[in-house]
Amino acid sequence: MMLKGYRGDILSLFHDPAQAPGAICHDADGLLVVEQGRIVARGAFCDVSPRFPGLEIEALPGLIVPGFIDAHVHYPQLDRIASHGEQLLDWLERHIFPAEQAFADAAHAGAVAEAFLDELMRHGTTSALVFGTVHAASVDAFFAAAEARGLRMACGKVLMDLGPEGLRDTPESGVAQTEALIRAWHGRGRLTYAVTPRFALTSSDAQLASAGRLLADHPGVLLHTHLAENTREIAEVAARFVQAADYLDVYDRFGLVTGRSVFAHGVHLPDRSCARLADAGGGVAVCPSSNLFLGSGMFDFAQAERHGLRIGLGSDIGAGTSLSLLHNAGVAYQAGLFKGYRLDPFRALWLATGGSARLLHIDAHVGMLAEGQEADFVLLDDKATPLLARRTAGATLAERLFAMQVLGDDRCIRRTYVLGQCAWDRDGVKHGT
Ligand code: GUN
Ligand code: ZN
Repeated sequence: MMLKGYRGDILSLFHDPAQAPGAICHDADGLLVVEQGRIVARGAFCDVSPRFPGLEIEALPGLIVPGFIDAHVHYPQLDRIASHGEQLLDWLERHIFPAEQAFADAAHAGAVAEAFLDELMRHGTTSALVFGTVHAASVDAFFAAAEARGLRMACGKVLMDLGPEGLRDTPESGVAQTEALIRAWHGRGRLTYAVTPRFALTSSDAQLASAGRLLADHPGVLLHTHLAENTREIAEVAARFVQAADYLDVYDRFGLVTGRSVFAHGVHLPDRSCARLADAGGGVAVCPSSNLFLGSGMFDFAQAERHGLRIGLGSDIGAGTSLSLLHNAGVAYQAGLFKGYRLDPFRALWLATGGSARLLHIDAHVGMLAEGQEADFVLLDDKATPLLARRTAGATLAERLFAMQVLGDDRCIRRTYVLGQCAWDRDGVKHGT
């Protein structure tokens, strides 16, 4: 038996605190017992430790939280972060499509996938729902790299038969490649496949319909796309799909609005869309730093809450400005306040962990540090900078968390653990295998 105990200040959320008072689970002197990558016990040290006599225990200095779960990110855009000057549609043309063309080269895809996963570990992100490019090999490269590191990840080949020259598939090739990728990767170890039409404007009706058939034929996979991000995009969608009630309805007409559907952004949603999506059981990956960077707008947290809409938190790199979900939580607070909504720091932590896990249908496995879950967790340092140390001295738990969301980023990630193994140590300490 390979049992190991981690003693420290442990914090997680078992439910959305906006819906369930008492959702916060905090063990100020806690013990997490891990066996073969799984949490077999978690609770107050004084309660749990007597059950495991002789247990090897490591004291972890800092705040232990679940590994962050990025509900929407593009690994091929890693090197296009901070590309200047445009809103969504022009930004795609000028900066993103040229960068994605390079992923025709599998070696390039493999190298970027490794760099991207290194960055996720440095930022405390242990799971993500990830866009590849139109090239099937980009997804092979990503899944192979994720599998080698034992990570729980979801990814998909982008369907875009109306994309620019050099980044186009066809409805037939899109289906054939997606089916081959599902066979190769879906449900293998910790990997999930996501059917990934880029957005309504880059797929023909025939391709959107084929995406709906793929979902119906493969009930375990996710649907991952963009929705109602930018006003010009929305106007172009309305002009093309004149029969549709609104943007979500375009996807609905092709069978893409399901309980396993994850839509990035949803910045400009009519109440009808919110109600319909909540009813279907799908949800929105909220990407606040991306929405500010591209001048898209601010997500309406109050509207989503009124409709009981599932939401998670996404970085949306390369439109987002940081892979850090701590940083994105801080931006979410500011974007929320702009519309009169006060995002509670514990709810922000929920969105970055259990909320995203629920959205990605991986909440049985990760996101809460509950007994039986996989031991993906992060050790946070709330004194990572001199200013953070001043601000958090003598502060409450809520204040410490909020300070890290507003002032912190990857500097606050002291260690990242995957399946109970240390996958990143900011301070360079060597760990056992
Ligand atoms: N809509 C369609 N493609 C993209 C993309 O790559 N990034 C963002 N932010 N929105 C999109
Ligand atoms: Zn995106």
